[in-house]
Amino acid sequence: MALLLGGSFSFVAVSAQAPTPTVVDSPAVKVLTGLLAPEFQEEMNHMVQALGVSCGTCHTRGNFASDDNPKKITARRMLEMTKAINNQFFPDHKPKPGESVLGRVTCYTCHQGQATPKLPPGGD
Ligand code: HEC
Ligand code: HEC
Repeated sequence: MALLLGGSFSFVAVSAQAPTPTVVDSPAVKVLTGLLAPEFQEEMNHMVQALGVSCGTCHTRGNFASDDNPKKITARRMLEMTKAINNQFFPDHKPKPGESVLGRVTCYTCHQGQATPKLPPGGD
């Protein structure tokens, strides 16, 4: 599924004599650092698909850098958790092009297209 991004935002990029392609560099990007703009955009698309949500679920309208939406804070903690799992248990996994840069375990591994992962059957 190709997600088209609206024309109303641009990825903040390093400007000072930066050669193309540019790395997404913003004070509000704390975990997904060092990615080129298309890679960063691809990670956002992976999260949308993994959770079955839209950009607006996590982002404040008109300001992607804002941390006002609590879902974005939760998502950042999830990014940290997912990165930590991969670093500790799957350090040798090399993501193929088109796969999440996070590694073997991604948001999809747990979320499977749902905003909140399913509880095991028979729970109370
Ligand atoms: C599940 C929540 C979630 C969804 C859905 C999501 N994002 Fe994000 N987005 C984040 C988080 C968390 C960050 C900050 C990542 C970090 O700190 O490394 C971020 C950062 C960004 C940034 C960088 C803003 C800046 O300058 O600091 C942009 C641009 C962005 N997202 C665009 C999008 C677009 C476009 C979509 C839809 C295709 C989308 N996001 C969907 C959680 C989400
Ligand atoms: C190891 C399993 C696991 C992984 C990997 C994972 N999550 Fe989660 N996520 C959970 C669980 C479990 C919950 C429910 C937590 C709760 O009930 O409080 C959750 C809840 C959330 C929520 C809050 C949902 C709500 O109902 O408000 C968001 C947003 C979220 N995850 C985003 C992400 C994103 C984005 C990623 C990938 C970067 C990710 N998660 C990766 C297990 C995971």
